[in-house]
Amino acid sequence: MGDKQAVDKQAVTVIGLGPMGRAMTRAFLAAGHPVTVWNRTASKADDLVAEGAVRADSIEGALAANELVVLSLTDYAAMYALLEPVVAALSGRVLVNLTSDTPEHARAAAAWAERHGARQLTGGVQSPPSGIGSPEMSTFYSGPTELFEAHRDTLAVLTGTDYRGTDPGLAALLYQLQMDIFWTSMLSALHALTVARAHGISAAEFLPYASSTAASVPGFLAFYAPRLDADEHVGDVDNLAMGVASVEHVLHTTRDAGVDAALPSAVLEIFRRGMAAGHGGDSFTSLSEVFRTA
Ligand SMILES: NC(=O)c1ccc[n+]([C@@H]2O[C@H](COP(=O)([O-])OP(=O)(O)OC[C@H]3O[C@@H](n4cnc5c(N)ncnc54)[C@H](OP(=O)(O)O)[C@@H]3O)[C@@H](O)[C@H]2O)c1
Repeated sequence: MGDKQAVDKQAVTVIGLGPMGRAMTRAFLAAGHPVTVWNRTASKADDLVAEGAVRADSIEGALAANELVVLSLTDYAAMYALLEPVVAALSGRVLVNLTSDTPEHARAAAAWAERHGARQLTGGVQSPPSGIGSPEMSTFYSGPTELFEAHRDTLAVLTGTDYRGTDPGLAALLYQLQMDIFWTSMLSALHALTVARAHGISAAEFLPYASSTAASVPGFLAFYAPRLDADEHVGDVDNLAMGVASVEHVLHTTRDAGVDAALPSAVLEIFRRGMAAGHGGDSFTSLSEVFRTA
């Protein structure tokens, strides 16, 4: 039964065996997909081979082994470093590029792949390696629709799939937007927890309050998003002048605690630019205008 399953399932090549590529290889193997692997540091394939993956002797061999090739590399520069010397082996391949990078790089890579007879599906994986194999996790995909449809079931082995459209940059863009929110909000939480700890309040003790504030964000977003789309920044529930005073309090609380104040200083600087642009009586969402004049 196991053998029959393996025969029926689409064979996949995985190139790049960092934490992600390794988790992806294991998820494919667990779902009965034959997997060929290749990595610059060959030893990272050893345990995967012991678990049933096939090691390609060369990157050309990895490309030749299967039509469907998953790339899980640090960035697109790593992809060119690996594939540029072997472009003749790309013809006919479907590159599922789950490497994070910019939308522009994803678009350029899709065009580059097509020049060499391959096609690219771009992916933006919204999961840590530990979530690979879970349908509750999600990956943005974009690129040729028929290519996604043809490989949807195989890709669903990794995470849930969220196909967004034909633009090969779109999955990368949506992923980077998520990262924009993730890093700034995680850093702000880390900052607050550092100030708390400077006052002898442990991170664990403050955690319920930090979580409560984080949980309030979707409500604010839902309120402000339609106004943002309408470029409507009426200061009926908040205004920038009040925001400046509030951020100043955060800045001074930070300094008084002896904690680095670069983060609230940067926030205050942006608020002040909004004030200088005449938005003192408008909502903080008017800072979107400030961002757009960069
Ligand atoms: N880890 C996460 O939590 C996470 C979450 C979402 C998305 N992602 C994205 O998924 C991708 C893979 O993640 P990861 O954590 O597995 O990344 P990683 O640890 O950076 O490993 C990626 C792979 O890239 C290879 N590589 C890097 N530079 C290379 C070069 N110049 N030439 C050849 N190979 C090169 C590495 O080979 P060696 O083994 O030889 O160094 C390794 O196999 C990244 O784009 C990452 O942003 C990661």
